[in-house]
Amino acid sequence: MCGIVGYCGARAASEVLLEGLKRLEYRGYDSAGICVGSSGTDFELLKRKGKIRDLREIVGKDVAGTFGIGHTRWATHGEVNDINAHPHTSESGDVVIVHNGIIENYLELRTLLEKTGSVFQSDTDSEVIAYLIEKYYSGNLEETVRKVLPLLKGTYGIAVLHKNEPGKIVGARNGSPLVLGVGNQEMFLASDVTAILAYTKNAVYLNDGELVTLTSEGYRTFDIHDTLIQKQVEEIGWELEQIEKKGFDHYMEKEIHEQVASIRRAFQGRLNKDSATGHLGGLNMLPYELLQVKRVVIIAAGTSYHAGLIGAYLIEKLARISASAELSSELRYKNPVVEHDTLYFVVSQSGETADTLYAMREVQRKGGRVLGLCNVIGSTIARESNGGVYLHSGPEIAVASTKAFTSQLAIFYILALSLARMRHLSVEDGLRIIQALEKLPDHIQRILDQADKIEELAKKYHIYNNFLFLGRGLNYPVAMEGALKLKEISYIHAEGYSAAEIKHGPIALINDTTPSLFLVPDDALRDKVITNMKEVKARNGRLIAVAVEGDTEVADIADDVFFIPHTDEILYPFLMVVPTQLFAYYCAIELGRDVDQPRNLAKSVTVE
Ligand code: F6R
Repeated sequence: MCGIVGYCGARAASEVLLEGLKRLEYRGYDSAGICVGSSGTDFELLKRKGKIRDLREIVGKDVAGTFGIGHTRWATHGEVNDINAHPHTSESGDVVIVHNGIIENYLELRTLLEKTGSVFQSDTDSEVIAYLIEKYYSGNLEETVRKVLPLLKGTYGIAVLHKNEPGKIVGARNGSPLVLGVGNQEMFLASDVTAILAYTKNAVYLNDGELVTLTSEGYRTFDIHDTLIQKQVEEIGWELEQIEKKGFDHYMEKEIHEQVASIRRAFQGRLNKDSATGHLGGLNMLPYELLQVKRVVIIAAGTSYHAGLIGAYLIEKLARISASAELSSELRYKNPVVEHDTLYFVVSQSGETADTLYAMREVQRKGGRVLGLCNVIGSTIARESNGGVYLHSGPEIAVASTKAFTSQLAIFYILALSLARMRHLSVEDGLRIIQALEKLPDHIQRILDQADKIEELAKKYHIYNNFLFLGRGLNYPVAMEGALKLKEISYIHAEGYSAAEIKHGPIALINDTTPSLFLVPDDALRDKVITNMKEVKARNGRLIAVAVEGDTEVADIADDVFFIPHTDEILYPFLMVVPTQLFAYYCAIELGRDVDQPRNLAKSVTVE
């Protein structure tokens, strides 16, 4: 949440910062600002409410400066306006900071400073950092930042400038990601690598408790006691073209279409037909250790949680290991029972979600073995987990997660397959599942080729204010995911429910203005779902169905039906979810919504 970028070098800093902020905009987009300087000149600070394109309008070409910091905000403290936008300055204007995270004791600190005459400008928690640095400034910015950090309670990724030390940025991290980009006679700082990918592929990831000083000449990483920390320079595995829209109108549309390739990548080298099993090397676990696993707990938030629910269902069904998925925000505070024969999976596209990260640390503190399923390479969860698997879906830029979800599913299917084959699943059954998995990308392509049919459905149905998404078994979490997608980008209210559960309450909502979207695979529960559809129809409810090609019975009952290809009955979540993603996308388009940057949201929720 919120994006930070910093630059020291010979280029026009304002351009580098604006470009970086544009790339980071998916992390927060309610206001933005930059501050640039050069030796012997005053800082130039420009900020405003709105998007980066609004900021660009006030940053004329004549903003000179070869170093600076920038920020794109997702408001936590204080309303969205020009004053609360970052950067923030100290009272004299000598110190300029940008901050991600939350300073929990800011009111206490602010009151203390006000008692000694300080007058604050904004309502933010962040401004207090600039005031404290000014108050304690010793003539050495690094030293001062080291002295001030212990006064702050909460989380931060910060970048700081001081007028007396032109060309220098001091950064510090505690709970909010920061990465350095190492260039030739130029250095970059950012909250994620997408901001710097256009300039360098050499990255240094900071850990919590680490600080950095950047100048155009190089960098120095150290801790709060000023002990030098040697950091490894790592190559960023992503290409610039992966974060371009490539002819699509929106990142979300592009990412939905990328699923054919991203699922293939997730399977690549991880399915073995000879032994009819899956292999996930990154787990760092020997087969005999995996055999001792008695329980699996999956921990995640949002869309990743929905993938986790399917993962748990599948592990229990295929491998006969007790498995459950937990919301990370809840698990952290419930004093969970952690057992040595339980395997904990934390699932996070970004690898930075605060709730998930803190839940992971709590389980680790209790001695649990935690494996990560992340997309972003080098992210905090990926680095702090005890092993794990990368999704390899490529950068996901749209705020609404799509391709990461299907890649998370892919990993869970490989995992369930290998756990099952170690126990009782036969070679024949294992091979049948692998063959069906390998056909999925082609099936998804066939669904995408009919996107215009979903667009037609969206044209017809986007006018409704409420929707129910209904499925059973493995497809119940898909219904939850479909509803989440629709509400987050179109702002239409939608609930994802078990089709069986509606008669225990939600059926009261059914009338001719609340359509229900039913997921009807040809699995063991199909007939039951059809009964549920009839119950809705009997109450005048409008019915959309996603059903399997040739299912004329469903087509006869539903008002509208979208057909998906036939697959193995356990694999339908992959094929059911894609039409729901497209439906949400096209409804949002019909309603004129900001698809990639829906209101109030941000990619990567790095605050609790
Ligand atoms: C919904 C969405 C969110 C995320 C959630 C967890 O489209 O993107 O619900 O899934 O914030 O994020 P990660 O997976 O990065 O931990």
